[in-house]
This record gives sequence, C-alpha cells and structure tokens, in this order.
Amino acid sequence: MILLTLYGPIISDFISLLWRACRVMELGVLAAALAVVLGLVVYALMTGVAPAPTSPRVASVMLDLIPPGIEGVVFELGSGWGNLAFPLARRLPRCTVRALEISPLPWLFSKVRHRVEPLTNLSIRRADFHPVALGDAALVVCYLFPAGMDTLKTKLEAELKPGAYVLSNTFSVPGWRPEAVRRADDLYATTVYLYRMPE
Ligand SMILES: C[S@@+](CC[C@H](N)C(=O)[O-])C[C@H]1O[C@@H](n2cnc3c(N)ncnc32)[C@H](O)[C@@H]1O
Repeated sequence: MILLTLYGPIISDFISLLWRACRVMELGVLAAALAVVLGLVVYALMTGVAPAPTSPRVASVMLDLIPPGIEGVVFELGSGWGNLAFPLARRLPRCTVRALEISPLPWLFSKVRHRVEPLTNLSIRRADFHPVALGDAALVVCYLFPAGMDTLKTKLEAELKPGAYVLSNTFSVPGWRPEAVRRADDLYATTVYLYRMPE
C-alpha cells in the first residue's frame, strides 16, 4: 500500500509520458509516409511517369534481347528503384552502366541498394536525363511513357552513334522499325522493343 502511494504517481507519469511519446512517434511516421507519397506524386506529375518497376519476367526478356558481345557505355534513362540497372550491370560486366533517375526516393533507394550490392560497373546518378549527352552510348535502355518516347526519339536521333542499340520496355519509338520485338509471359503480355541506329 505504501509502495503504491509512493510509486503510483511516478508510474502514472511514466505511462502518460509513454503515451505522448507514442502519439508523437505516430505523427512522425504519418508525416514521413505523407512526405514519401507526396514526393512520389510530385515527381510523377513533373515527369509524366510514376516509378513503376520493371518486373523480373520483363527484365529477363529485355536482358535476353541484348545482342551478345556488346561493350562500352549503357545508359538507363529513368532507372527508378534499380530493377533494370542492377540486372544490366550483372549481365554486362564489360560495360559501364550509367543509371539516371530524377525522382529522389527511388534514386535514394537504388543508392542504398548499390551499397548492399556494390557493382563497380554501375553508377547511379540523380539527374534529369534530357541534358545528358548520349554520344558514347552502345545501348540505351528505358521504360518511360508514350509522350516521353516522342521527346526521346528526337534526342536519340540527334545524339546516338550509328550501330548503337535502344531497348525499350512497353513503349515503342514512334516511326522506328524495331530490329526485334518480344512479348513477356506476364499478365499484360508486355512488349519489349530492340532498335539499332542505322550504320
Ligand atoms: C516506369 S519507371 C521505370 C523505372 C526503371 N527503369 C525500371 O524499369 O524499373 C520510369 C522512371 O523514369 C524516371 N524519369 C522520368 N523522366 C525522367 C527524366 N527526365 N530524367 C530522369 N528520370 C526520369 C521516373 O522518375 C521513373 O522512376
């Protein structure tokens, strides 16, 4: 009884402190989740495309389409969470894979992923790919959106060297004749296009 009288107020203070701490933490977690969602939405609106990752099945079809013996620089334009960048770097050890992503959260995630799997032939940069020169590319890989492919087409035609390859998930380059087209056996029967710049 004496103990309860002595410690009762302390215990009750402790419980109310704990309760308030939980509320503050809850609010913190909520605020962080909101910031993450907002960040993703803002960049999706800015670029016109959400950071939807390429599925392993589609990635495997894309990797299989890459011509053997390719060497040099590979660009991934809009590398998202790294779902293509890492398999590309693993599959092409003699190439330098340059992954460019503008949206901060997917970029940060892929940077952490790079710490965990430090592939030396992969660099991941937070950047808008539009001003990046593609002149030394042997292969350009992308998974964008129809209007984005229109804009990209002009850039590719102006900058890519003859013989360079372009590999696109889902969206074709308007007006170009693909060298190969494959369908993945996923739910959407996703189409993958491979192009080669005329020599
Ligand atoms: C559909 S996601 C594909 C992600 C990744 N390539 C994959 O296949 O898993 C398209 C990504 O392109 C990025 N993106 C769009 N426009 C961009 C730009 N101008 N510069 C850099 N990244 C861009 C988006 O933020 C998004 O993460």
